[in-house]
Amino acid sequence: MKSNRNPNSELQQSVVSVPDLAQVPEDLLNQAREFQEAIMMYSCAIREVKTKLEVLNDDLSVRNQRNPIEVIKSRVKRPVSIVEKLRRRQLPVNLDSLINHLDDVAGIRVICSFVDDIYAVADMLVNQDDIRVLKVKDYIKNPKPNGYRSYHLIVEIPVFFSDRKKNMRVEVQIRTIAMDFWASLDHLLKYKKEMGEEATAISEELRKCAEVIAGTDERMLEIRRSIERHGGTIKD
Ligand code: GTP
Ligand code: MG
Repeated sequence: MKSNRNPNSELQQSVVSVPDLAQVPEDLLNQAREFQEAIMMYSCAIREVKTKLEVLNDDLSVRNQRNPIEVIKSRVKRPVSIVEKLRRRQLPVNLDSLINHLDDVAGIRVICSFVDDIYAVADMLVNQDDIRVLKVKDYIKNPKPNGYRSYHLIVEIPVFFSDRKKNMRVEVQIRTIAMDFWASLDHLLKYKKEMGEEATAISEELRKCAEVIAGTDERMLEIRRSIERHGGTIKD
């Protein structure tokens, strides 16, 4: 059956609701432009660090005939999450505050196969002379009480833009495939607040899984080492 709705009516309505830029206060527009520029700068910083990690992976895979890095994921924090985090920390919601107080606007997650790869990749990254380490959190040697494991670095890297050089901060999380699997499920739990009492049982179950996973990571590393001692290589 043919609809007799005017297909343009919704379009017309939405066109009418678009704000007329001439009516938007100039300082608001400038703030939006500055924010957009900052996001662009963080995404460039991600590219710089990501390239370094890719170079390390390529070099190590030629030397050792296996890739220490499985996947590299990255993201620039969403504007809504930036505002929420600044509010949660009772900080002013503006660009200066974001630049000075947030370490994780640019985030990179490196997923490795084995635990020793995590430390090897982290060492090689922080020893590069244009990288400055601001913070290290080793949640592998010191897991969080809920069982969370990962190696966290906050680094600063110079990025060359058209008219200036800026030192940009990037959060790098390095973990095994198993740790990443665990963290994804744990992350899901954080968004299920309405579970009430059941959440306690689930948290406990997750904590136990984290122990099992850590044990498995260790055993997998031992197995790989004994294969290597016998002259074997692990190829893709
Ligand atoms: P945030 O305010 O959450 O950034 O924490 P922080 O500044 O104290 O830093 P921390 O190094 O503890 O955590 C940084 C990031 O690691 C988080 O934003 C998460 O991505 C991850 N993370 C830390 N703890 C957990 C956890 O218990 N579970 C999961 N799934 N991820 C975590
Ligand atoms: Mg964070």
